[in-house]
Amino acid sequence: MTLLELIAKTEFAVRPIIAYIPPSLTVRLFTAGRNAYLPLFAHVVPTRSYEPPEELGVTAWGLRFRLPIWNAAGMFKSGAGYAMVAREGAGAFVAGTSTSRPRNGNIRDRIKWPSTQYPFSHSAANWMGLPNAGHVAVAAKLALEKHVAGCPMGISVSAEPGLDDRLAVSELVEGMRRFDDAGVDYIELNESCPNVEGHARHAGLDPALLTRLDAVATEFLTKRRRKLPVVVKLSTDTAHEQIPALVHALVERGFDGMILGNTSTRYDALRTRVHEKDRAMFDYFTKRYGGGVSGALLTASSLESCRVATGAVRDIAPSHEFHVIRCGGVMTLQDIEESRRIGVLLNQWYVGYFEMFARHGHGLYRVLSERMRPSSVLTLS
Ligand SMILES: Cc1cc2nc3c(=O)[nH]c(=O)nc-3n(C[C@H](O)[C@H](O)[C@H](O)COP(=O)(O)O)c2cc1C
Repeated sequence: MTLLELIAKTEFAVRPIIAYIPPSLTVRLFTAGRNAYLPLFAHVVPTRSYEPPEELGVTAWGLRFRLPIWNAAGMFKSGAGYAMVAREGAGAFVAGTSTSRPRNGNIRDRIKWPSTQYPFSHSAANWMGLPNAGHVAVAAKLALEKHVAGCPMGISVSAEPGLDDRLAVSELVEGMRRFDDAGVDYIELNESCPNVEGHARHAGLDPALLTRLDAVATEFLTKRRRKLPVVVKLSTDTAHEQIPALVHALVERGFDGMILGNTSTRYDALRTRVHEKDRAMFDYFTKRYGGGVSGALLTASSLESCRVATGAVRDIAPSHEFHVIRCGGVMTLQDIEESRRIGVLLNQWYVGYFEMFARHGHGLYRVLSERMRPSSVLTLS
């Protein structure tokens, strides 16, 4: 076991003490630990590499994903980490979210990028505010990475929050071109971070969103010179009634898919399902910072949103390949199988990844693969 694996295992084992220490201290300690751990985590490459069995892979947009799951955006903000997850056997990798200008992210109570865990609810919250080094620096890093077969390299991008819309979109498109030049295999457009201004939360067909999508479609999608899928990441909180119209808007503009979704800010609804031992922490964090909730509290809602989305895709029957990617509370193999039953072939995880990492270290995708059945033996419901 490596030192980083040991730290993850130990932190996971002692995490329940959060229920017995003051929430303000927990946020301080957990955030400091996480800020120190993640950069190291991205850089230490496992000595052994794992190749999942061929039959577990998925082909989408002509890209081969060795497994139907990979990290969600925000884990590797600076772009480091591809070699590490590729050796673990991940189905893909995504860096970012990056923006056109470097961002410091949120600070409150002298805590940089406040975040916490809800251990008894297998969930977490963060109020980071998209800190990142900017498209130029992240693209330069990705351009140097050697691609591994079956592990597509993605980048999550966002328009610069707080900037005039036209300038923000033109800088966004310039950034997307840069990532195209850097050789990424797919792009996620993050439209759903609850911790910055200008991103849609439960808004559905927000006019500003549609204007941005139009501009990206005209300035980038129609001008692509190679196969470079662009998917849009929306909030898990998107109202179900809005999802068919959003799918339609994306298909119509030539986008290649959607991710459902990002973290949730439906605090009242979530609170009823938060484990009682996590409630004090939950109340403190939402009041003090707000932030987005992730992890098992989202499992049911991401499945339901994706069910509505895949239904809409079936009804629309797009003339180009369009995929729904599930993200939000994907914690176990069973979640991946449930995704498949509703027609979702691709999944991402953040909280679930780290829970598996705490248990199995870099062997997590091997463990998952050994228990996974090929999609051909699962029936769609
Ligand atoms: C600490 C943290 C940082 C995140 N940063 C980003 C980000 O930069 N961009 C993004 O699209 N999503 C970001 N997310 C959201 C995740 O990508 C994911 O959508 C969310 O956590 C739900 O997935 P999960 O339930 O598997 O954790 C972040 C989540 C966490 C916990």
